[in-house]
Amino acid sequence: MREPLPAILISAQEIQKRVVELGRRISEDYAGQEILCVGILRGSFVFLADLIRHIELPMEVEFVRCSSYGNAEVSSGVVTIEFADQPMEFRGRHVLIVDDIVDGGLTLSKVAQEIRSRGAASVKTCVLLDKPARRSIAFQADYYGFQIENRFVVGYGMDSVQKLRNLSYIGYLPQKTDEIKSL
Ligand code: IMP
Ligand code: MG
Repeated sequence: MREPLPAILISAQEIQKRVVELGRRISEDYAGQEILCVGILRGSFVFLADLIRHIELPMEVEFVRCSSYGNAEVSSGVVTIEFADQPMEFRGRHVLIVDDIVDGGLTLSKVAQEIRSRGAASVKTCVLLDKPARRSIAFQADYYGFQIENRFVVGYGMDSVQKLRNLSYIGYLPQKTDEIKSL
């Protein structure tokens, strides 16, 4: 039997409207510069694909693979980072790191730190979602689409045990919320 679809937290239309706004702001903030967008695999790929089409700047796109979850819904606290093409050149570049969501904050802060240490001229971060209540370290994304409460969300690139990335909206799994709250 098919599982019921997750409930809608943020509709596809709301996402698209916000992505356009984010792209416009980024284009203004970096006017006259070239950027390197670095997407964090795999969760960022849908957001990144939409976002870059609303950024009117010369750019290159790269990916890093990061994982702190395995197949669990709670971060293991240890973030592994793999750069796709070696050696990736960051020296002197304006890097915009793009991810789906900032939760505990470890993933983005570790990737930003690593890219800074490789000589980037500037490093900023952009996420679609921000779950401020879950922060385990002090971290603030430079750009975010929406702040959400402490809920496990899926869709628009985000998964639950690798499934549901293909939803065009952001949904939540009601049965999972209580487990997370009790942690
Ligand atoms: P952090 O290091 O705790 O900030 O974890 C960020 C990463 O965890 C994101 O890149 C997502 O891949 C994943 N993540 C955090 N919260 C959720 C969620 O609610 N749904 C799906 N993935 C999530
Ligand atoms: Mg991720």
